[in-house]
Amino acid sequence: MAAPTGYFTQVAKAHGVKVTFTPEIEVDIREHITESTKLVWIETPSNPTLRLVDIRAVATQAHEHGVMVVVDNTFMSPYIQNPLDHGADIVVHSVTKYINGHSDVVMGVAAFNSDELHKRLSFLQNALGAVPSAFDSWLAHRGAKTLHLRAREATANATAVARALEASPHVIAVNYPGLDSHPHRAIAKKQHRDGMGGGMLSFRIRGGHAAAERFCQLTKIFTLAESLGGVESLCEVPSSMTHAGIPRDQREAVGVFDDLVRISCGVEDAEDLKKDVLQALERAVAETEGLAVDGANGANGYESGEQTL
Ligand SMILES: Cc1ncc(COP(=O)(O)O)c(C=O)c1O
Repeated sequence: MAAPTGYFTQVAKAHGVKVTFTPEIEVDIREHITESTKLVWIETPSNPTLRLVDIRAVATQAHEHGVMVVVDNTFMSPYIQNPLDHGADIVVHSVTKYINGHSDVVMGVAAFNSDELHKRLSFLQNALGAVPSAFDSWLAHRGAKTLHLRAREATANATAVARALEASPHVIAVNYPGLDSHPHRAIAKKQHRDGMGGGMLSFRIRGGHAAAERFCQLTKIFTLAESLGGVESLCEVPSSMTHAGIPRDQREAVGVFDDLVRISCGVEDAEDLKKDVLQALERAVAETEGLAVDGANGANGYESGEQTL
């Protein structure tokens, strides 16, 4: 949601493109399609709340109206999800993340299976100059060779961490599509390879924003940073980092509360990651107890145990 949202709200708007956002695209897409609609853009899983969208259901409705469907597949990577097989017209990835996987390249890619689109987009790429350097391409190629290994390991690690978080009394809710408790688990089983959940997850910590920030300072293996999809595990607080530019009411309407922590699991040992998360949780919640004005039942207006998805 972060970088693409900035493009839609600021860059596209300046070029006269009207954009409508919706968190529940699968149920109300018809309401959003007008005579001038050209494109439906899906982020599945969504960043940072890990909601899923049924690509086939949306593509079927969009195509009935002659509208193209683009899927941002950055969180899943092409190893876990292949949106073109589910009816999407274009798939985009931040290659910076899983495809490269080593946090040393900034690159993007658009994939499609139409000669017509290839002709149009190749022309635009050349005319606009969106061409990666030879060295970056070489690095991304090196990364892609181990994508399948990294994606499997990141999924195993995120599953272990998500289960540990779900069992913790310090956690209000866990957003991870690999858990049976996820409201869109059925879509994950249909759309993701072997129902895999990927390496990304988010959770709401008890103790509000202060506890979320403290958690990210107290982890020893997870590094506090905004990126994701690399071999090293990262954590961040979306409300004050990746999603700080979105007004609070809009953020909270889609589940991005001040106490949300986003985690990107790398390829380290699962037991080490679990232990790291649990010790940071324990300390963050203890240290911020009594401090939080926006903690559970506080200014955010949610009740303990409320589902964010
Ligand atoms: C789902 C998703 N798509 C796209 C991007 C944009 O990536 P980049 O900044 O590498 O273009 C991000 C960045 O975090 C993302 O999370």
